Amino acid sequence: MRRTIISALTLFTVALGFAVPAAAESTAEDAVKYRQYIMRALSGHGGAVMMITGGTAGDAGTMSNHLDALANLAAEVAAAFAQNAVTEDSESLPVVWEDPDGFADAVAALEAAVTQLGDVAGNGDAEAIDAAVKGLRQSCRDCHDNFRVDD
Ligand code: HEC
Repeated sequence: MRRTIISALTLFTVALGFAVPAAAESTAEDAVKYRQYIMRALSGHGGAVMMITGGTAGDAGTMSNHLDALANLAAEVAAAFAQNAVTEDSESLPVVWEDPDGFADAVAALEAAVTQLGDVAGNGDAEAIDAAVKGLRQSCRDCHDNFRVDD
């Protein structure tokens, strides 16, 4: 009896797991909030990487965690901006959706910068790491310059 209940519960949990909706179309507010969370997460992990490589805080042993997070987040940017949603809180310029190729290029530049940093992070070459960190920051700036409202 107990086993039946447990397996029924397991099945229910599994079913629920698959039932999580894919958020096909969010409200504009939620779509904006979501992409801003993705950006803040990029900022958090990028900031941590800069502090670790700059030697001001953190532990070099956690670098790969931050780099994995950056790679996963970068891979999600395109989807996070897929919905053309603009609200008062949004700082995205219309060109995000008017120039999808340009935006895709900016996402690709971010992904390349994260890959580059991952490639050199473990080799102890401070100059190469420094250059890769600068490249990462530049990829953020380049996209913001073109696709985000000026501060
Ligand atoms: C492909 C383009 C693109 C790249 C690359 C990019 N951003 Fe953004 N970012 C945007 C846009 C567009 C917005 C405005 C989003 C909105 O408010 O609708 C934004 C907003 C932000 C925000 C503000 C989020 C908020 O809470 O309002 C932060 C912080 C940020 N980006 C950090 C970063 C960092 C750090 C990187 C690099 C590691 C980066 N971004 C790379 C396009 C990009």
